Amino acid sequence: MSYIIDDNILEELKERMDIVDLISQYIDLKKSGRNYLGLCPFHNEKTPSFSVSPEKDFFHCFGCGEGGDGITFIMKKENLDFLEAVKFLCDKYGISLKERTRAEEERIRRMNRIYEINRLSARFYMDFLSKNKYALGYLENRNISLDIIYKFGLGFAPNQGNALSKYLLEQQYSEEELLLANVSNRSEKSGELFDRFRNRIIFPILSIHRKVLGFGGRVLSKDVTPKYLNTRDTPVFHKGSHLYGLHVLAKESTKEKIVLVEGYMDVIGLNQHGINYGVASLGTALTPQQGDLIKRHGKNIYICFDGDEAGLRATNRAIDILVQKDISPKIMVLPNGQDPDDFINENGVLAFESKMTQALSHIDFRISKVKNNFLINTPEGKTGFLQEVAHILSGIPNLIERDIYIHNICEEYGISLNAMKQEVDGIATVRKKQKFKKLKSIPKLRPISKLELGTIGAQRTLIAYGLASIDYFNQIKEIMEDNFWLKKEYEQVFEDIGIYGFDNREDSKRVYLEEYKEKEILNQKDVEEIQKIYIDEFNYENIIEECVQLLKISWYQAKREDLLKEISILEKDQTLEEETELYKKIIELKGLNQLLKEIKGVIQ
Ligand code: UTP
Ligand code: MN
Repeated sequence: MSYIIDDNILEELKERMDIVDLISQYIDLKKSGRNYLGLCPFHNEKTPSFSVSPEKDFFHCFGCGEGGDGITFIMKKENLDFLEAVKFLCDKYGISLKERTRAEEERIRRMNRIYEINRLSARFYMDFLSKNKYALGYLENRNISLDIIYKFGLGFAPNQGNALSKYLLEQQYSEEELLLANVSNRSEKSGELFDRFRNRIIFPILSIHRKVLGFGGRVLSKDVTPKYLNTRDTPVFHKGSHLYGLHVLAKESTKEKIVLVEGYMDVIGLNQHGINYGVASLGTALTPQQGDLIKRHGKNIYICFDGDEAGLRATNRAIDILVQKDISPKIMVLPNGQDPDDFINENGVLAFESKMTQALSHIDFRISKVKNNFLINTPEGKTGFLQEVAHILSGIPNLIERDIYIHNICEEYGISLNAMKQEVDGIATVRKKQKFKKLKSIPKLRPISKLELGTIGAQRTLIAYGLASIDYFNQIKEIMEDNFWLKKEYEQVFEDIGIYGFDNREDSKRVYLEEYKEKEILNQKDVEEIQKIYIDEFNYENIIEECVQLLKISWYQAKREDLLKEISILEKDQTLEEETELYKKIIELKGLNQLLKEIKGVIQ
């Protein structure tokens, strides 16, 4: 039987456990100054060198070097693992542990099986890489050495359709488990499993504790899409809550600095040049959870995204996320068209480090960007620019920092300190009020409300969910029965998810959506809004259902209006034929009214 052991339990144990009393039950301790001394139970000795500090809650043997807290002591003395020792002590001190429910046990068991599958898969891929000259050649061409290949556990997925699936099935993992781990897919035609990653360089995504969470796979040739394919979300992998490269950073770096980059290859390129503090956000816009991870693992945060439009947009978003976490990131600006990997390979580590020293504060970065939008040599341009600057500065929460920036700007542009201060304070006050209002009216974790959604929102939400997983996609298709899309552009984007397969889609929502923006089927707002939609995996059924209901209602309502119009025309002057037609329509209308009443009943 396993138990729930969490921070609360450990805290309580700490509170109740007296380390001197605990250890005294095993050996004689004598007070000596602030500590207690005794003969070490872990090695043979005649004069006591085993010391227990009640203040520090700690024991240490100066003879053999053993040391630790009460739990460590019990682990060693009773030969138990950590969890068993905690259980032992809880029993001793009368702390009751909650047993895990069956469902929780089952969930943990399933997760462990997936971790095993992932580990075996990673080994399998590594093995194949070592045998494949072509793939090794590719990496060598990209300047990646063997020690970096090992450090990151890089591998290669063979081009045979099901080599890995076959291997894992032989190891007694079930088809369902392989699908759940997302290392295999099921062919619709034959019903057989085939490998998700084929003919790709494999980048295992490792946790800090070096568990294999999932994979990224890069094509070798230019004309295959998508360029990178990633593991879909699984019970052990949630794209938005990990960072690529964290296992190296956590182990090797001093944690003074973190450079946030866009891609797998950027992290690897930096490491190849000895920079072990690069992490990447796994092909998504930076999420708040990733912000937390960054905060936990480094002091000075640098953002170094690709020197292109997309990189710029991603930078702005990352700044917002990090600033909300009270981090003041610095921004490294790369030459047009280059990413960190290109840059460091071309210019070397010193050039990269000098980019780092030149990095702009996020405030200066934003100011430099808005500057491009104004002709600041004209009075109107300068005024417009400075107003934008005031907006930016008003968002700095720290008043001293805000003041320093105001001073600098006024000096640089020769304007009165007072005027700028008033402007900035004015905006800050308004903003505060607005924020307060917003906070008051919106509860913290706001579920999507039916009324708020609107049909445009509902359609965007369905696209977002369809993009998030094949299961959601199928479920939406199923409950859409006939077709209730109100905007044919949305319908196309959604239906194409099915046509172009899930590989294209899973790999990156952004890439998929941007493509439709380029084709002018979606607009910028659509793309932004769809990406913003939070995928609530615990409540997705209700959300999907609500969205479809909403569309149904609008769809029937529109139809009803058409009918009413037709009826009013038919009513005017009617032949027998038209009269029959009229009755038909009236019956249809009644049916529709009834239907609408029913659907509305469901959601109101
Ligand atoms: P990039 O296209 O900038 O790739 O995508 P890169 O890191 O420079 O890779 P190389 O140098 O061409 O090999 C950046 C990141 O975006 C995600 C991946 O995480 C990638 O590392 N991405 C990109 C995808 O998930 N899918 C794609 O099709 C493309
Ligand atoms: Mn690159």
